[in-house]
This record gives sequence, structure tokens and C-alpha cells, in this order.
Amino acid sequence: MESAININNLSVSYRNIEALRGINLNISAGKLTGMIGPNGAGKSTLLKAILGLININNGQVFYNNKALIEQRKIVAYVPQRSQIDWTYPATVWDVVMMGRITKTGWFKRFSNVSKQKALNALEKVEMTPFLNRPIGQLSGGQQQRVFLARSIAQEAEIFCFDEPFVGVDQRTEAIIFNIFHKLAESGKIVLVVNHDLGESITNFDDLILLNKELIAAGNRQEVLKQENLDQAYNGKVMFFNENDYNLAA
Ligand SMILES: Nc1ncnc2c1ncn2[C@@H]1O[C@H](COP(=O)(O)OP(=O)(O)O)[C@@H](O)[C@H]1O
Ligand SMILES: [Mg+2]
Repeated sequence: MESAININNLSVSYRNIEALRGINLNISAGKLTGMIGPNGAGKSTLLKAILGLININNGQVFYNNKALIEQRKIVAYVPQRSQIDWTYPATVWDVVMMGRITKTGWFKRFSNVSKQKALNALEKVEMTPFLNRPIGQLSGGQQQRVFLARSIAQEAEIFCFDEPFVGVDQRTEAIIFNIFHKLAESGKIVLVVNHDLGESITNFDDLILLNKELIAAGNRQEVLKQENLDQAYNGKVMFFNENDYNLAA
């Protein structure tokens, strides 16, 4: 059986603001899935609701027919950059080793296996030379790569990233997309919020288009039909073809 996340009739409100209404959605393993939609569409909220990090009004989230919140150890989550405290006095190595805590447990010594897995993960994102650097002293792109390494070290099955490409250089974007593709190909769930509809969108296999309600989900080209974009962006986005995008004023 192919692994999948199943979301049934999910609704979320913040006090009196309705953020998500009646979302029904399946997210399949083996595909790189992007989540798009305008500012305030509820993208971050949906990610947090899936992961059980916020209260939901209604609905259920299953992974392989079992509540996802009971399987937190297999989930890696990197929040939006603005939600991370970058003054936190941790080195690159500390951050990546945090990914091993679910395997090792708190207050236990890390095994050589854990250290090797952390080193391999750092190698994959090409950040080994920065091992002892405080994360606050890295560029945005380097920081994202470190958090990606942490999630690889965690050996998660579900990878959730909220806008990992904001403020990131092109080289880093290419490195990260390459790893996302490999994770998806190896049967993981990779779910990435990406508000930018530029060329990088063609990296995704599947898309979820959101504006409080689910507008469309599934194959990228199906989702990017003009009628769907009109509905999500109130007619403010024009989409021509895979190599030609234009954002109207
Ligand atoms: N902690 C919060 N308290 C109150 N309202 C919130 C909170 N977080 C988000 N919202 C509101 O919920 C809606 C969806 O927000 P969000 O999920 O952050 O959207 P997106 O990530 O698509 O930009 C917005 O109207 C936002 O203002
Ligand atoms: Mg957001």
C-alpha cells in the first residue's frame, strides 16, 4: 500500500477568524507536493493543523489509517523563517543532532550511529564546513539547509516545510529541491508551502491550491488551470504556460 495522509472535513478558527473551512484532501507519498494560495489563505494553518500543533474545530488527519498526532516521531517540520528564534545559541551541529533526539531520547548520550547519521545529513546539504558555526550567523539559505539536514537525520517519513525558499539563494534552492525530489522518490511524503508562483513551481509533481477552502488539488498542470487561479486569487494572477508567468498588479 502507498502511504498517504488523509484529511477529512478539517476546519480551523482563531477566536472569531475562520482560517480553514471543510478541507478534504489526500497527500500521497512518492510525490513532491507544493501548497500554494494567496497571503492569509491558511497555508501555514493547514500545515500546523495536520501536525497537531494547533487546535482544530472539526475534522481528522490520518496517516496510513491511524491518527497522525499519534505518530509524531516520523514527522519533520520546519516552520516559516519568521517563527524561528535565530538568536538561540545553537551551532549547526546542535541543530542537526536535535533530529536524533526522537531516536535517542532526552539526556542520553548520542551513539556513534547517531553522530554518523548527522554527519551524513550535513554532507548531503553541503554544510559540513559550518559544523561549529552558530546558526544565527548563517545566511537564510544556509539556515534552511541546516534544518533540512536535521529532518534527514531524524529519518522522518513525512517532511513538512513552510516557505523554505524565501530569502534563499539559487544554489541553495537547487540543492534543496534536489533533496526533496530524492526524498519523494524514496517513498516519503514531502509537503512544501510555496507562495511564489514563479518558475520554481514546475519542480512540484502535485499542488494544493488553497484559499480558506480547498480550490484544487492533484496534478500540477491540472491545478494551475486559469479558472482555479482566478478563484483562489480573485482574478489577480495570470498563468500562461510552464515557462511564462506573469503576476498582474
Ligand atoms: N495565531 C493566530 N491568531 C489569530 N489569527 C491568525 C493566527 N495565525 C493566523 N491567523 C489568521 O488566519 C488566517 C490564515 O493565516 P495563515 O495560515 O498564516 O495563512 P498563510 O500561511 O496562507 O499566509 C489569516 O487571516 C491570519 O491572519
Ligand atoms: Mg504562512
